[in-house]
Amino acid sequence: MSILIKNGRVVTASETYIADVYTEDEKIVAIGKDLVYQADKVIDATGKLIFPGGIDPHVHLDMPFMGTYSSDDYETGTRAALHGGTTMVIDFILQTQGDTLHNALKIWQSKSQGKAIGDYSYHMAVTDFNDDVAKEVVEMIEEEGITSFKTFMAYKGALMIDDGQMVQLMKVVKKYGGLVTVHATNGDMIDSLIAKNKADGNMSPIYHYLSQPEVTESEASGRFADMLEYTGCPGYIVHMTCEGALNAVRKATQRNQKIFVETCPQYLILDASLYENDFEGAKWVMSPPLREKKDQTALWSGINQGLIQVVGTDHCPFMWDQKLMGKDDFSKIPNGHPAIEHRMELLYSEGVDKGKISLTKYVELSSTNAAKIFGMYPRKGTIAIGSDADIVIFDPKKEHTISVETHHMNCDYSGYEGKKVTGKTETVILRGQVAIENEECLLKAGHGQFIKRGKTSKTVI
Ligand code: URP
Ligand code: ZN
Ligand code: ZN
Repeated sequence: MSILIKNGRVVTASETYIADVYTEDEKIVAIGKDLVYQADKVIDATGKLIFPGGIDPHVHLDMPFMGTYSSDDYETGTRAALHGGTTMVIDFILQTQGDTLHNALKIWQSKSQGKAIGDYSYHMAVTDFNDDVAKEVVEMIEEEGITSFKTFMAYKGALMIDDGQMVQLMKVVKKYGGLVTVHATNGDMIDSLIAKNKADGNMSPIYHYLSQPEVTESEASGRFADMLEYTGCPGYIVHMTCEGALNAVRKATQRNQKIFVETCPQYLILDASLYENDFEGAKWVMSPPLREKKDQTALWSGINQGLIQVVGTDHCPFMWDQKLMGKDDFSKIPNGHPAIEHRMELLYSEGVDKGKISLTKYVELSSTNAAKIFGMYPRKGTIAIGSDADIVIFDPKKEHTISVETHHMNCDYSGYEGKKVTGKTETVILRGQVAIENEECLLKAGHGQFIKRGKTSKTVI
């Protein structure tokens, strides 16, 4: 299959220019003015933007969590991602405490193989570290192409590891060239605030928010940064929400540390006032919770200051029936919300269209930096000769409205119902095949490939 895309504005992390792009089989083969090729398909992209396929490095598909499973599986989740211009996701494998990483890997392979439509990789969540797991960490890096290790400083009894385990894990990961990522909130503090609120009879969703004040995230982010400095390991903080946590990272960068930060559209756009609508607030019960307007300003500034490099989604959808598990007790509401489909369009609309970030910054945040940090660049994350032909043709002027009626995620509500957005994904190409056209997904389950990733130490940002 060959495709010639004519006259679009190519946008990379460093420049924008009008050109034609020609793809053959799975790769980009030529970029230039007035290219002459006999292609199987020609697309006129006049007036459109040409982005590298989006990479969402934070999704939870078919994940067991809080007594249930996230409602998108690999098929529905990667299809919805493609509709929004995300051609690759990185999901989280969860080690069961007391069990091996390899057993967890097998479970996630059976969830994804033959089902994924878009490309994917895994982070390995280490929830129980010991000498045997240390050997498996090395095997994950050297043999499986899984080079990032997720840790939780919260969710005690299920996912959390203690600081001793964290430091030992960092030492191994550093030695073999990987990266430690973290959900950075102080689990013990949060658990005690939850218990206090419940003892006082405070059971509605707003108490989820009030049980995770900003300090719980700032403290854990600073502690994580300090442990990274002590071990010399590179690190990545997922789903950062607030000014205090960002300031902890600012301090770490003054020590010249390798610490990367991800935030998510919900923290840039939505705020904690949504928890005031009684049980309706359960739609946005996620951890960490939505914060204040001043935090949104801090996060946008952090992006432009280069302290935040990636925008992921933390896509972790639950049906309304599942959210109702916590109707009498906020601590039983499954944490997470549907987001995988809207990341690229929300970031464009709220960021580029509203003048908060440049086009090149947009591509950094939505694709290139994730490819670099997670060891896939330049195969993924850019429009360049030899790169995978993962391409988004984007109409920057088209206005549309987000709704559960039109989204493709397997979730029966939207966290952005009725929100007007400027800029729409029009055509999506995945490894040289048209994936999305005329709002239809043309690829079938099983098209998505597992992408083996390289070592973080070999990539630059
Ligand atoms: O609320 C969230 N974020 N759910 C998914 C698990 C996590 O902490 O990322
Ligand atoms: Zn998390
Ligand atoms: Zn998450």
